Amino acid sequence: MTRNRSNPRRGRVLAAALAAATLALSAPHAFAQDKVKVGLMLPYTGTFAALGNAITNGFKLAVAEQGGKLGGREIEYFTVDDESDPAKAPENANKLIKRDKVDVIVGTVHSGVAMALAKAARDNNSLLIIPNAGADEITGPLCAPNIFRTSFSNSQPGYAMGKVAAERGHKTAVTLTWNYAAGSQSTGGFKEAFEKGGGKVVKELTLPFPNVEFQAFLTEIAALKPDAVYVFFAGGGAVKFVKDYDAAGLKKSIPLYGPGFLTDGTLEAQGDSAQGLLTTLHYADQLDNPKNNAFRAAYKAAYKVEPDVYAMQGYDSGQLLAAGLKAVGGDVGKRDALIKAMQTAKIDSPRGPFTLSKANNPVQDFYLRRVEGKENKAIGIAIKNYADPAIGCKM
Ligand code: BEZ
Repeated sequence: MTRNRSNPRRGRVLAAALAAATLALSAPHAFAQDKVKVGLMLPYTGTFAALGNAITNGFKLAVAEQGGKLGGREIEYFTVDDESDPAKAPENANKLIKRDKVDVIVGTVHSGVAMALAKAARDNNSLLIIPNAGADEITGPLCAPNIFRTSFSNSQPGYAMGKVAAERGHKTAVTLTWNYAAGSQSTGGFKEAFEKGGGKVVKELTLPFPNVEFQAFLTEIAALKPDAVYVFFAGGGAVKFVKDYDAAGLKKSIPLYGPGFLTDGTLEAQGDSAQGLLTTLHYADQLDNPKNNAFRAAYKAAYKVEPDVYAMQGYDSGQLLAAGLKAVGGDVGKRDALIKAMQTAKIDSPRGPFTLSKANNPVQDFYLRRVEGKENKAIGIAIKNYADPAIGCKM
């Protein structure tokens, strides 16, 4: 019992350690010395690699515009290539959540991967910002206060295009897509609006993700002779499909429609084959608002390429996190206040200003766009202020 008292040197060391600990605990912003850890779980290889890179660039641009700090704190990035592979998603999510202990995850592009990521975020109460993947479930049964999306729900651009196709007088259509959530929800949205408008989807064709052997489908479409074709493809798959459709001679005879992913970030590679195509999306290249003009100029200056919808969504993910961290002075421990600030943020987006729905999904306009040269040019608004119905979302 008297051992410590009989050793004055040990006593002095203990007192010094205690004093240091007390000082550290009473420092007003002990957390401010650390960086906010941002985990980027995105595809950096495979058919969606360009999308993952554009999102990363857009996010980092938004952070750079805040002087490299959000809520007064520097950002440290942790990166995982999710390969757009749903089977690897739980392990990849755990690398960021359990190994790297990130404060927020930004991910991902592929709906199947995003659903696994959302489950991991729910289980671990991790803050998640989805910068693309449109899985309808995320704003439905998988919704949660800590899960945000800055993009769209899969059925929305499809629904907008179905409405436009019916208004353009088409009576029959064939749909074609990769057989996974994004594809079936996109073509499902198209079918719902097209048939509501008096049209009929006569055939629904699918192929496994990320296959690009389209020839047999093009032969079948030629034989079916529908009034219109609606497809969901993105990234490398979209480049190949648009070129193959043209090469098969179908572009001249059967109008091809799609959500904007069919021609976004792809025009350089698609060349003449994409000219004149009509798509629907929540963004168009030359939207004439000050934020879009500034965003496009800054992105081009930083990365020497034009931004696309994915870059814009990454940028807005950075803007959304910035709004949350600003409200809590960078203290991610003030979780309720951080989430509330994000939920009520009014984002000055290049797409036009938007707020979030009760399921944390943007309420936004969907533009009708036409490919002109190297641009997706807005030629009208297909649906205004379109909010996701959030069916099955309880929070
Ligand atoms: C998706 O899987 O949700 C998706 C992928 C690429 C573009 C749009 C949506």
